[in-house]
Amino acid sequence: MNTYEAIFSRKSIRRFLWEKLEWEMISDILEYANNLPMLIKGIPVEYKLVSNIEKKQGFRGPFSVKAPYYLCISSEEKEDYLINAGYLMQQINLYIASKGLGACFLGAANPGKELKNTMKYEYVIALAFGKTSDPVFRDSSQAKRLPESDVVVYKEEVSSDIKQILTAARLAPSSINSQPWRFVVYKNRIHIFAKKNNKLFSYMDYYKMINMGIMLCNLLLAAEELWVDLSITKQENLKSKQFQSNEYICTLLIG
Ligand SMILES: Cc1cc2nc3c(=O)[nH]c(=O)nc-3n(C[C@H](O)[C@H](O)[C@H](O)COP(=O)(O)O)c2cc1C
Repeated sequence: MNTYEAIFSRKSIRRFLWEKLEWEMISDILEYANNLPMLIKGIPVEYKLVSNIEKKQGFRGPFSVKAPYYLCISSEEKEDYLINAGYLMQQINLYIASKGLGACFLGAANPGKELKNTMKYEYVIALAFGKTSDPVFRDSSQAKRLPESDVVVYKEEVSSDIKQILTAARLAPSSINSQPWRFVVYKNRIHIFAKKNNKLFSYMDYYKMINMGIMLCNLLLAAEELWVDLSITKQENLKSKQFQSNEYICTLLIG
């Protein structure tokens, strides 16, 4: 299985076997992570692997997922660094799934101060991962996702490849399955928006941007697989416009 196929079959795994992974597997995952292309150039990031096998290390939180390993990403806090971090971590999430291992993003738990102090940049998010006896794959029809009509507006008729790319985007995992992404689709461009959170939940904006990066990873991987050329731009007129329930993120130019 490759990472594109994993988009359609992965699911979050929350129960793990308390077993060590072979070192070759761990170093393979780390090498994959360290060689990933950035979504946004010029934002330094660092990965940190935390093993809990010998000693439980500093992740606390009410909805924490207990796992033998956590892979943390820390990043310099530049513009769109959360989107960039989500994009990178989703590639790793898909890569881990493609190896038949379980993984789950960990937004509810936080590394303790001690662990954070060992990170080069600001801690962003972690992936819990390891061996599991639960099924790692499912049919994409089993994924609980909003119907296409809730998140995509087709302004013009588009090709089946573009529809497939949007399906891949919609299957992205998100914190509490919030699926904040919204798409306005033309023949030659896709405008991407994020649903605004109620002011009471504005603390969720942090995760919303990570979710948007995760979705962009699925979308761009699918485009690459289907040989569709996409380039990311930001349109000044949309950037400066106020929308009632959505926030403009970017535009993907097709071809
Ligand atoms: C940024 C982010 C943070 C998440 N945090 C948690 C978490 O703390 N605990 C948990 O059990 N699941 C967490 N999840 C997993 C989501 O609940 C899950 O992706 C979503 O319900 C969709 O299910 P699926 O991944 O099986 O398709 C997180 C997902 C994302 C993307």
